[in-house]
Amino acid sequence: MNLLEAEDLAVRYPNGTWALHNVTFSIEAPSFTAVIGPNGSGKSTLLRTLLGLIEPARGHSGLMGYDSVRQKSKIRKLVRYVPQREGIAANIPLKAMDIVLMGRLLKKAPPRIASSKDRDLALDALKQVDMLDLKDRSFSELSGGQKQRVLVARALAGEGPVLMLDEPLAGTDAHSQDLIVEVLGKYHNEHDVSIIMVTHDLNPIHTYVEDVLLLKNTLVGIGTPCDVMDIEMLKRVYGPSARIVEYAGHRYCITRDSGFDRHD
Ligand SMILES: Nc1ncnc2c1ncn2[C@@H]1O[C@H](COP(=O)(O)OP(=O)(O)OP(=O)(O)O)[C@@H](O)[C@H]1O
Ligand SMILES: [Mg+2]
Repeated sequence: MNLLEAEDLAVRYPNGTWALHNVTFSIEAPSFTAVIGPNGSGKSTLLRTLLGLIEPARGHSGLMGYDSVRQKSKIRKLVRYVPQREGIAANIPLKAMDIVLMGRLLKKAPPRIASSKDRDLALDALKQVDMLDLKDRSFSELSGGQKQRVLVARALAGEGPVLMLDEPLAGTDAHSQDLIVEVLGKYHNEHDVSIIMVTHDLNPIHTYVEDVLLLKNTLVGIGTPCDVMDIEMLKRVYGPSARIVEYAGHRYCITRDSGFDRHD
């Protein structure tokens, strides 16, 4: 079963920008997949296209065997999606706990009333990301990193075989990054759940990631983290200053875009 597939995929926004072109690949389920590439390289566009939120100009894509355009309602049921910029308005007084409960309630038919099982799962997810103490804090009053942890908890509390997270590590410090990555990695290993994660930095996730897609408005590289640590490939994406450095048995990728990425 393919977790993700795309064939000759091209996506153009109404303003004429070609965000993606000539994208063909497939990745088998289950997988922990990282999508990397510089700003504007089409990472978020690829996720939104796979989910059927944007229709491609050419070609097609699919998720777990379903077509992104024709079967998007099926895909929505399978995927727990954390978008890059969560549009939760600051003036709506939702607590952290309410946000996590949304992960359980939004896919239910109305009336959406939380059962004790829903509450238990939400509390367990908050505990996993070390946010239990702040469960009654207003979401809008949390720091950027704390918000990210709550949004990861919302995905963990939900159901469905695929977690899709667009830059869950953005704006988080090293401690929060490690926590989020470890929680997601463990979740992937212990449950039959695939994870697709957009990131700028392969370093914090390289021990868990199985497949990497390297984008620059087309597919530049696909493979294991080690395969994608290819200097010619990285230069094509990040420019001539990209370097790979070996130190103490580890390979580090240094790019101006992402700082450095390490891979064993
Ligand atoms: N709603 C939109 N309307 C028009 N153009 C868009 C829109 N969203 C993205 N684009 C353009 O499409 C291209 C790909 O954008 P996308 O957001 O997919 O990149 P990204 O890799 O996710 O970048 P980032 O790392 O900054 O999140 C960019 O050139 C961007 O300007
Ligand atoms: Mg993006």
